[in-house]
Amino acid sequence: MASLEIREIRKSFETEQGRMTVLDGLSFRVRDGEFVSVLGPSGCGKSTLLNILSGLLPYDEGEIYWEGQRVPHLRSRAAYMIQKDLLLPWRRVLENVLLFPEILGIPRGESEPKARTLLMEVGLQGFERHYPHQLSGGMRQRVALARTLIANKDILLLDEPFGALDAITRANLQDLLLHLWHRYRPTILFVTHDIEEALLLSDRILVLSAVPARILEDLAVSLPRPREVTDPAFIQLKAHLLRLLRKSHPPPERAT
Ligand SMILES: Nc1ncnc2c1ncn2[C@@H]1O[C@H](COP(=O)(O)OP(=O)(O)OP(=O)(O)O)[C@@H](O)[C@H]1O
Ligand SMILES: [Mg+2]
Repeated sequence: MASLEIREIRKSFETEQGRMTVLDGLSFRVRDGEFVSVLGPSGCGKSTLLNILSGLLPYDEGEIYWEGQRVPHLRSRAAYMIQKDLLLPWRRVLENVLLFPEILGIPRGESEPKARTLLMEVGLQGFERHYPHQLSGGMRQRVALARTLIANKDILLLDEPFGALDAITRANLQDLLLHLWHRYRPTILFVTHDIEEALLLSDRILVLSAVPARILEDLAVSLPRPREVTDPAFIQLKAHLLRLLRKSHPPPERAT
């Protein structure tokens, strides 16, 4: 059974130029424990989709199902890592990871050992008492990942979590995420505009069209992991996705 199913989700925004449709009847399913990427360029509606699923944003039409039951959104079932890391600058690393358990009133004696284990797993043992400004961008994203995982939710909504990082840090964090996924087996909906990243990580890629977003293709990636960007099969899929996105998102006309 699909863990998550969305049917014909529509969303438009009121703008100065009138109503703009951003999601135009989006439907897809994500199975339990599956790693699914949502791939599309800037502005196509990816964050809007995650905001809707997490319950932060209302939608105009459509239905959301969780394990076969109709739900308004996923709020209590999902851990959402938004596009900016949003660590609280006045809280130390450990306290940032403990933010949600604290809000939920979970006793510290229960949550702190979990937080320490997670920090060790993301390679930040010894940094528990640092403040966010004392960390690099990659380290901050590791803290944000640990904070997302501690909630122990069934589904993770990750919005371009590695978008602002250099190539090597990004590759390390991609490996880390795959490791954590294998270990804890959450269902993951991973938003990215990076074709290689989607191919390296996912079981399936939902390719979005330019705004208003529709699904151009639902691509199963059956390459064995760990994946190699130099593998001919990988290169072939990459070329296919690039062609698809180029067709849907042509470059702007240039004045001559
Ligand atoms: N609150 C809002 N009011 C009006 N328009 C909005 C609002 N939020 C988003 N939009 C518009 O909806 C479209 C999709 O935005 P969204 O943030 O979902 O894109 P995205 O795919 O996440 O882009 P990026 O990759 O740059 O993060 C954009 O054209 C944006 O201008
Ligand atoms: Mg976005």
